[in-house]
Amino acid sequence: MKTNKTINETIKGFATKGVFPPKWAFTLLIPFRNIFLSAKELIKRLELKENYKVLEVGPGPGYFSIPIAKKLTNGMLYLADIQPKMLKYAQKRLNRRKIVNVEYHLCNGKTFDFKNNFFDVIFLVTVLGEVENKDAYIKEFYRMLKRDGIVSISELAGDPDKMSIEELVALFEKHNFSIADQYGNKKNYTINFRRENGK
Ligand SMILES: C[S@@+](CC[C@H](N)C(=O)[O-])C[C@H]1O[C@@H](n2cnc3c(N)ncnc32)[C@H](O)[C@@H]1O
Repeated sequence: MKTNKTINETIKGFATKGVFPPKWAFTLLIPFRNIFLSAKELIKRLELKENYKVLEVGPGPGYFSIPIAKKLTNGMLYLADIQPKMLKYAQKRLNRRKIVNVEYHLCNGKTFDFKNNFFDVIFLVTVLGEVENKDAYIKEFYRMLKRDGIVSISELAGDPDKMSIEELVALFEKHNFSIADQYGNKKNYTINFRRENGK
């Protein structure tokens, strides 16, 4: 049956450890994944305001990028991925919908070319486990966030690179972040962190 085939393909795509292969990117666009986390729910968890500057690290083909860019009617979404093919895929999908409040940045795996205290929100969905140099990234998140900004990490069941809540919290605490909000459960969760010298 077609549905079974789609579900099997989704599972196979998610079962690949390491940087997610662009050839499986289409599996990230299947609405079935809303069971784990929908864009509507993510927008609520990020507490987005229309004028925010938001960085999405590892957007893949942009499943969440489209609704989030639409929410930022007076703001800007910055997409940063390490794979040019993923970035192009996302760009194609956003261009097709004539979404223009978006910039596209290719990551080098260590640093980001944004100013200090620039973003209101930085978010990653099923990405951090794939990032090789997590410490360097978290230091960069600290630098790029506004004082009262948040960095939001969502991890979902079935991702072979998924980080446990304990691992994630220890990592962020090491870099002077503390938990601002927590949603979901051990299997599917979002944790928002704030800089310790923040609000
Ligand atoms: C599993 S996909 C998730 C895509 C998207 N967040 C979603 O939920 O649909 C992981 C994405 O993170 C990207 N990625 C992996 N390591 C990265 C890094 N060090 N810097 C930026 N992006 C990275 C991959 O290229 C891929 O697009």
